[in-house]
Amino acid sequence: MAAFIGIGVLRHMLYRLVFWAAILLCLTQLLITLWRSDRPMAAMKSTNVNTRTILQNMMDFHVARTTTPPYESLLTVEPWVDKGLAQSEQLIMDQVQRRLPNLPVSYWNENKNKLMYYKNESCARFPSIYELEFNNVYWQSLHTTNGSFHLFSAYYDVRKYSRIGPAVRILGMINRIEPVVRTHCQFWFDGYRQPVIVKTMEYKYIWYKKWGNYKQGIFQPYLIACQVPKSHHHAVPASVSLVENVCDRATNNLRVVYDRPVVKKDFAVCVKGLDFLYEDLSVRLVEWIELLHLLGADKIFFYQLQVHPNISKVLEHYEAKGMVHVQPLTLPGGQPNVPGFQHLYLTKKVNHKRQNELIPYNDCLYRNLYSYNYIALLDIDEVIMPIKSRTWKELMDVVLVKALAKRNETRASYNVRNVYFLDDLIHEHGWFKTMPRYMHMLQHVYRSQNYTKPNQYVKCFHNPERALTLHNHFPLACLGQACTSYPIETEDAHLQHYRADCVKTLKKTCTEFRQNSVMDTTIWRYKRQLISKVSNTLSLLGFFPTLI
Ligand SMILES: *[C@@H]1O[C@H](CO)[C@@H](O)[C@H](O)[C@H]1NC(C)=O
Ligand SMILES: *[C@@H]1O[C@H](CO)[C@@H](O)[C@H](O)[C@H]1NC(C)=O
Ligand SMILES: *[C@@H]1O[C@H](CO)[C@@H](O)[C@H](O)[C@H]1NC(C)=O
Ligand SMILES: *[C@@H]1O[C@H](CO)[C@@H](O)[C@H](O)[C@H]1NC(C)=O
Ligand SMILES: *[C@@H]1O[C@H](CO)[C@@H](O)[C@H](O)[C@H]1NC(C)=O
Repeated sequence: MAAFIGIGVLRHMLYRLVFWAAILLCLTQLLITLWRSDRPMAAMKSTNVNTRTILQNMMDFHVARTTTPPYESLLTVEPWVDKGLAQSEQLIMDQVQRRLPNLPVSYWNENKNKLMYYKNESCARFPSIYELEFNNVYWQSLHTTNGSFHLFSAYYDVRKYSRIGPAVRILGMINRIEPVVRTHCQFWFDGYRQPVIVKTMEYKYIWYKKWGNYKQGIFQPYLIACQVPKSHHHAVPASVSLVENVCDRATNNLRVVYDRPVVKKDFAVCVKGLDFLYEDLSVRLVEWIELLHLLGADKIFFYQLQVHPNISKVLEHYEAKGMVHVQPLTLPGGQPNVPGFQHLYLTKKVNHKRQNELIPYNDCLYRNLYSYNYIALLDIDEVIMPIKSRTWKELMDVVLVKALAKRNETRASYNVRNVYFLDDLIHEHGWFKTMPRYMHMLQHVYRSQNYTKPNQYVKCFHNPERALTLHNHFPLACLGQACTSYPIETEDAHLQHYRADCVKTLKKTCTEFRQNSVMDTTIWRYKRQLISKVSNTLSLLGFFPTLI
């Protein structure tokens, strides 16, 4: 008890001491301040120092606390605002078109002052872009009596194996499984004031129910098809709206994408929505982009959710060079789009994440339907590595001969086996001194001896003439016939997968993978060019401040 009182008293005294010490400190501070600010005043009396320097002195004293410049100079200074002229409506529209590639901006612009409808003014009026319902920036909506639709983009499909003939396919999400609501497509053509209206032909589910999330109410990925009627087979619709009843005034209107370059190129790579806000993978991304380019990727199509500023810097650099294309992306419906929060959501809700990924994958396929012979869906830690040949083109020349010899038909896809290049396999062996340490792939040349099982975790070169819907690893549905995939032999190519660890589902096998590793230096073939390209880019982008 006595000890308690003792401590209580002691604490009380301590508080007092601190209190008075604080008061004393404040007083001293005040006196110093007064004394200092007095001095220039005194100086003014005795000498003829102009007011400017006095002000300067006074302000200098405050500089320690604030960063306000000298007061007098503030009176005339002009803040650096953008004095560019106000943008004309046309300029703004051009910007809108770039930001919303799915909006039929020019078609609407040409027709906005005409009355366009079906038969009479109360039926199927052409909607103004100001009447559309947008959802999370890039999506347009349709609410029906049984389910809501968020539509991402629409494409013209006249592929020779498509049995339904010329059609428009609309990629979007519907919060229904096995949707039964009847809907219509209102097609708008150049030079016509009346829409052509057809019943929606099918809602193609881009998912297997056994994968989960098979519930009413959750937004699910679909490819919606509407056939263009025979009377209009000669023309490509400029835009399309999805409505429930024929005469409805649409709340969505999508530009119909149809790019058919004169010359088809060989390889495009598609990368799902980047979600690397905190993880600065910029340097590894440079190595990956440059390597894919050396292998023969003509262009890499990135979708972007959230990325670290350094990654943006890298992407902008390559976009300016025409090597990549970046399309911003959001999650539709009530899903989170706030940076950070979205990342947590995608980490915790893996099935939602997987379902959302099917939108960028299939958008990338349909945007490039007529532009490329092969489309690969890769993550930025994966490389399809030819073993004997140097490029993907040379590889496919060999593979096609083998595939056709086995069965005389072009396949929907050509798949490569997955093999792990795990981060820690290297560290027992140290670094390779003749190569920069920041070149992750050049440094990590130990891989597990065994591949993951055939057809598991594989990646493909997809044939856009055959694929109807794509999934990460395989086509989900194909045109003309059932999906076929040719397994590329591991002596010809494999998928180098650079990871810290195997996928979670492989935990047990992973231990065995680790215990049996081999050195695989195939990538060193590109060493000289790769080091030079990566280092030049990193230097140009300011990643080596100490070397300048
Ligand atoms: C307008 O045309 C539609 C479609 O032909 C028809 O169903 C509707 O009754 C018409 N409305 C009027 C007011 O004429
Ligand atoms: C609404 O659609 C679901 C299928 O997505 C169906 O099971 C249900 O019967 C429909 N409800 C009505 C009232 O039609
Ligand atoms: C393979 O099929 C094509 C037509 O599809 C035919 O022209 C060619 O002769 C066939 N080749 C062999 C070896 O059967
Ligand atoms: C690796 O392959 C060998 C031979 O094919 C096999 O005996 C062994 O079980 C495999 N190991 C793993 C981890 O799959
Ligand atoms: C990368 O990000 C860090 C942290 O924001 C920054 O300090 C650094 O300057 C960035 N690097 C480049 C090349 O911009």
